[in-house]
Amino acid sequence: MKALVLAGGKGSRLRPITHTSAKQLIPIANKPILFYGLEAIAACGIREVGIVVGETREEIQKAVGDGKQFGFSKVEYIHQKEGPLGLAHAVKIARPFLQDSPFLMYLGDNLLKQNLKPIAEAFLSQKPNAQILVTPVPNPQDFGVVELKNGQVLRLVEKPKNPPSNLALAGIYMFDSHIFEAIETLKPSGRGELEITDAIQTLIQKKFRVTVQTISGWWKDTGKLEDLLEANRLVLEMLEENSRPATFTQENSRLEGRIRIGEASRILGSTLRGPIVIGRNCLIRDSFIGPFTSVHDDAHIENSELEHSILMEHVVLKDVRRLQDSLVGQRVEICKAPNKPQAYRLMVGDSSRIEIP
Ligand code: G1P
Repeated sequence: MKALVLAGGKGSRLRPITHTSAKQLIPIANKPILFYGLEAIAACGIREVGIVVGETREEIQKAVGDGKQFGFSKVEYIHQKEGPLGLAHAVKIARPFLQDSPFLMYLGDNLLKQNLKPIAEAFLSQKPNAQILVTPVPNPQDFGVVELKNGQVLRLVEKPKNPPSNLALAGIYMFDSHIFEAIETLKPSGRGELEITDAIQTLIQKKFRVTVQTISGWWKDTGKLEDLLEANRLVLEMLEENSRPATFTQENSRLEGRIRIGEASRILGSTLRGPIVIGRNCLIRDSFIGPFTSVHDDAHIENSELEHSILMEHVVLKDVRRLQDSLVGQRVEICKAPNKPQAYRLMVGDSSRIEIP
């Protein structure tokens, strides 16, 4: 079996972060979202992976490289030049890579707790034409929705106004080569895209066999800030280690709960309450860091309070009374204004969102 990973999306709901960085590379517990998917694919024993990339292809290519770090024997980058043309279009252009092999398709911004291996094995042994994954959600209208009857798939519909069930279609699918025939018959949807949901619905109408697996652990589509923070929380909740490298220093500090700290970081006069991940080479002084926070490499946090947030590389926080529920991009500085008047002084990128008390 091969794998096809879709990492071409623009991440418009995560601007401004995605103006300069691919949404699939936003770190969750200091590791790019995309890497969780690639690791899950590798754990299925899959060795050949095609990655569909768009405008952010250079960045994704730089991060994943030849895929050896995941144990892949081959990674092929497939450039989706115009977009958004939809998930089914991405599958179509990947045909030269996929050929007639069965394949696992993984949306690069999806995160799943469950081990995919038994699901991939069920697909390979039962040999349906397609296998989908579903999970109940409170907001089915935001996803592909699946209607089941006696465990059989009756119908799929993409982001319906009146969802026929609360079962969302997760962004992880398995197909044999009949999917290409179904894609050939598609017309663009209301949002102007060739929908993979419609292609699977076409398979059902043509009496091909589509099986369904219900996800047992959590699943997250990380398209929005709230979802990213929740994904970060879910991953940190599973943090087991309390790793403190020999190069890490602490003075007059309290470290409570599960905390993973990178090389050469210094915690001075601070309280950290896990689960927390701190990157390499960070300086945290006279500060409080609360649960469910990921601080990436080279942060400098001084006299500040921080909780339930994601900080990307090289962030500076100085005299920040309290920051929470936040995603802070690379090289951002947040500090107290030195002089009167007490006012907000901002240099903020396009599409930023700032909430003030
Ligand atoms: C896509 C699919 C949708 C699926 C979702 C899962 O939506 O079209 O059926 O439920 O991924 O992440 P999109 O992210 O393109 O809005």
